[in-house]
Amino acid sequence: MKATAIAPANIAFIKYWGKRDEKLRIPANTSISMNLSAAFTSTTVEFSKNLSRHHIELVDEMFSDKEISRIVLHLDRIRDRAGIAQFAKVITKNTFPKGTGIASSASGFAALTVAASAAAGLSLSEKELTILARLGSGSACRSIPNGFVEWTTGEESDDSYACSLYPPEYWDLRDILCIVETKTKEVSSATGMEFAQTSPLWETRQNEIPERIAQLKQALREKNFQLFGEIIEEDCLSMYKVMNTQVSPLFYWTKTTEDCIKEVQANRASGTLAYFTIDAGPNVHIICEGNSEKKVVDRVKRILGVQSVLINKPSVGAHLIKEHLF
Ligand code: DP6
Repeated sequence: MKATAIAPANIAFIKYWGKRDEKLRIPANTSISMNLSAAFTSTTVEFSKNLSRHHIELVDEMFSDKEISRIVLHLDRIRDRAGIAQFAKVITKNTFPKGTGIASSASGFAALTVAASAAAGLSLSEKELTILARLGSGSACRSIPNGFVEWTTGEESDDSYACSLYPPEYWDLRDILCIVETKTKEVSSATGMEFAQTSPLWETRQNEIPERIAQLKQALREKNFQLFGEIIEEDCLSMYKVMNTQVSPLFYWTKTTEDCIKEVQANRASGTLAYFTIDAGPNVHIICEGNSEKKVVDRVKRILGVQSVLINKPSVGAHLIKEHLF
């Protein structure tokens, strides 16, 4: 009754910001992402007769009470499904700081879903795992399949799931993740996106997304990096404008975030194709092709305020491993 899973964080190219169903975490729109090789969560879960409550621990960091409640809810969901009454010991570890817009809830809930369902004796298909992970945190469903992933919005719980569009080795892209802030953000994505629909730009964003998805899929199919980059920046800025005009507005960027964006533009002006995308936080994901990695990294490291740089390749999705954390 013990299992360990590793799950990558993912970076959304077409963003999920706003839900059609809050409780079931059915998103307002389809989204597309890439799993990240250097930003991942490892989680060991053991259900045991000797526990009288769940024991949940994050190595080197602390979960807030709110985060613990979400994890407990997810464990109970999995216990119900497996028909077991035992409590779980959960130890989890990230390779990056949580709560800073690096999708720790995505890798966290994906790893928890895969480890806890195996520890509970469930044998679920990839599609079922994505649906279950989604109930914990929406973007977590995209961390289950391999490589480049699409999460279809769906009308009901069972048709809102994620599947792989291409395996990790399909396209040698890099996500140069510039960490400019390691403090947990004040407003989580879950809370922030509850108010997305209050933005006057919400409707426009929703109307534009189907065309953007079609163009992004075309860019992926053709490995057309320029088209790909233009679409991801457009979608990032569209989400950002919605965030900024919600009631109450959200401002996640810092001056260093803006400096990183300017650096990406300077890269392009000097002939190195690179594009940015940013989730709900200040950290900047610079996307480039493998042969531009060195140039982009060397330049970005010089920016004052960039605390560290995490170089990601496209990665496999969540999977069980043999070594346990305890
Ligand atoms: C800005 O998946 O963290 O990163 O479903 O409420 O847990 P909940 O939200 P979450 O939101 C991620 C939002 C985003 C964009 C994205 O990853 O698509």
